[in-house]
Amino acid sequence: MKKDFIAVADYPAEKIQELLDLAVTLKTEHFAGGNKPIFKGKVLAMVFQKPSLRTRVSFDMAMRHLGGDALYLSPSEIGLGKRESIADVARVLSGYVQGIMARVFAHDHVTQLAKWASIPVVNGLSDYNHPCQAMADALTVYEKFGNLKGLNITFIGDGNNVATSMMHISAMLGANFTMNSPEGYGLSEQALQVGKKLAAQSGSEIRIVKDTVEAVKQANVIYTDTWTSMGQEAEEAERLKVFAQYQVNADLVNKADPKAIVMHCLPAHRGQEITDEVADGPHSALFDQAENRMHAQKAVLVEVMGEN
Ligand code: CP
Ligand code: NVA
Repeated sequence: MKKDFIAVADYPAEKIQELLDLAVTLKTEHFAGGNKPIFKGKVLAMVFQKPSLRTRVSFDMAMRHLGGDALYLSPSEIGLGKRESIADVARVLSGYVQGIMARVFAHDHVTQLAKWASIPVVNGLSDYNHPCQAMADALTVYEKFGNLKGLNITFIGDGNNVATSMMHISAMLGANFTMNSPEGYGLSEQALQVGKKLAAQSGSEIRIVKDTVEAVKQANVIYTDTWTSMGQEAEEAERLKVFAQYQVNADLVNKADPKAIVMHCLPAHRGQEITDEVADGPHSALFDQAENRMHAQKAVLVEVMGEN
């Protein structure tokens, strides 16, 4: 049966850890000049309903490094679900290429693509989650701390797609996850339910903490993301007001563990959710995360598109 990568929680924790170890191996091979052409003759179609820098370039480079190729299909080009139904796009692409990576608005669009395609589908962000980002972030934490088990990971800000996937991967790998958001902007009930189940399995905790300083005390990782995600532009003015007290700045970082790292999936809105001082400071892991997108996604692509 073909494999997809729609959510980290679709895989057992052991498989996620195995993929992180594979990412470390592929990263080492890459820097030693030893990329293997395992995707020779294979093409990944990259379908976008939203803009992207990291997702687009890191998937493209991952395919090229491993001897394959990638095709960029812009939002206006194929009009997923508008010009043509998702089921038809999925079946047409299945006849041309060997895999699909899709960035969509409604999560249902990526699950529909996976349902109708006879080739693997990888979720490159939906309004619900961002599993490839979580893989890169877990890889970054793994490299910095050697293990996720027992770490305290605190997310400050919006309970969005990135927060959801980060909660799930943290819970799977045994890290405690703390969420700090304004009233009404927390994680969805659905995301929390999945997270709590995963945390119970690994013996970790999920905490919702109202006070920002309390939330970062003893944090090994402080994570933040934009206050206004793609598609929410009309709410921006309101969100700027609601989130004003949730900025990750030097004062806040100084309340965490002295060795804490600060993470952000990027693009950053400097001066809003994160200050320049923190984004460019000694605790920042921002550009390691960005680079790790490429290494982590190679492991995901090998899992779903490689030969078994
Ligand atoms: N972090 C991330 O997904 O970046 P892009 O939106 O640039 O792909
Ligand atoms: N939460 C952000 C992530 C961007 C990579 C968004 O969905 O716009």
